[in-house]
Amino acid sequence: MGLKFPIFMDAQSTTPCDPRVVEAMLPYFTEKFGHPASRNHPFGWEAEGAVDAARAKIATLIGARDPKELVFTSGGTEAINLALKGVAEMYKEKGNHIVTTVIEQRASIDTFKRLERQGFQVTYVPVQPDGVIDVEEIRKALTDKTILISVMFANNEIGTIQDVAAIGKLAKEKGIIFHTDATQAVGKIPVDVEAMGIDLLSCTAHLIYGPKGVGALYVRRKGPRVRIAPMMDGGGHERGMRSGTLPVPLIVGFGKAAEISREVMAEEGARLAKLRDRLQDVILSSVEEAFLNGRPDRRLPQNLNISFAYVEGESVLMGLNKETALSSGSACTSSTLEPSYVIAALGASAELAHSSIRFSLHRFTTAEEVEYVGQRTIEVIKRLREMSPLYELAKEGVDIKTIKWKAD
Ligand SMILES: Cc1ncc(COP(=O)(O)O)c(C=O)c1O
Repeated sequence: MGLKFPIFMDAQSTTPCDPRVVEAMLPYFTEKFGHPASRNHPFGWEAEGAVDAARAKIATLIGARDPKELVFTSGGTEAINLALKGVAEMYKEKGNHIVTTVIEQRASIDTFKRLERQGFQVTYVPVQPDGVIDVEEIRKALTDKTILISVMFANNEIGTIQDVAAIGKLAKEKGIIFHTDATQAVGKIPVDVEAMGIDLLSCTAHLIYGPKGVGALYVRRKGPRVRIAPMMDGGGHERGMRSGTLPVPLIVGFGKAAEISREVMAEEGARLAKLRDRLQDVILSSVEEAFLNGRPDRRLPQNLNISFAYVEGESVLMGLNKETALSSGSACTSSTLEPSYVIAALGASAELAHSSIRFSLHRFTTAEEVEYVGQRTIEVIKRLREMSPLYELAKEGVDIKTIKWKAD
């Protein structure tokens, strides 16, 4: 089969909807259009039944004991906001301290900034150079005022997977609520809220081949029962935690996507890891001064993140963007030209933080696409470096850091 352009290798920003998901959703836009809260006629019962079935599929995917522990939201961002603000509001009499990390996604970081303005104290635990959080650093940051620990399961830029079970254990030991932003992990790698001691978990459909605009927050009901203050007032849907008419077609799609992900996870993960490793080998064996970001053995199978010295990530994307969709830094920050705060947090120089490229593969990525993207990336990097005076100087043995650019 020939290549089809543009090639999509930016699947950690979003994934294409699986055709089986679209098919499952379609009747819920047309003949099955009932309101799931309409308790007194068959249209409502049908819609409610479909929502319950989807809820059960998502609960199974994350190991939740009871589907009622899932609250539907508009996506990962809303789930995270609801978890963090909901706990802060509900437990503020108990304490005002929260522990998180420097590599969380913007939905968390910006929520914490708001909570800080409201008087909460937030400790941002640093990350090790390989992208893994040292659980002992979290332990050291805890105080008797800590009400919440929030650590992302897998990073959206470098794919690094945290030791969530160890953090869950620590949280239980100290009696502190534990939230994880598992937006990138759910459906890709095994996630089990019971075995891992997770109290709150945020996830989204559009990263597991489901539709955009729907996500969920898992809220533990037993051992301990976690309570959160709602953000929205209204009809009291989702057991009072999130008012608003449920988007039934999207929820049905989310359920189908969860079901498929669970079935194919092991096989798909192995296939994508193999393709990703091939892409990594092709690039790293041909391009000098290219640095892999994130610990290789604790990464999402579809993720590859490389910093290329002497070139701007944005220039690489421009060189490729008519034919290949990639990302520099996270998709959510690529509208600004700030260097990636995640790569910078690993201890990389500002130059290397500016030069990171994320390749993220997906269910429909082919071996042919991987070969093509690998070769094209190599060509573009070589061309950009040929035009780079810095690269020329470095090749002549000049230490770039010692250059004085401007007369005083
Ligand atoms: C780690 C992480 N958290 C949260 C989000 C936000 O999720 P959503 O786009 O569903 O609001 C994303 C989105 O890419 C993400 O990667």
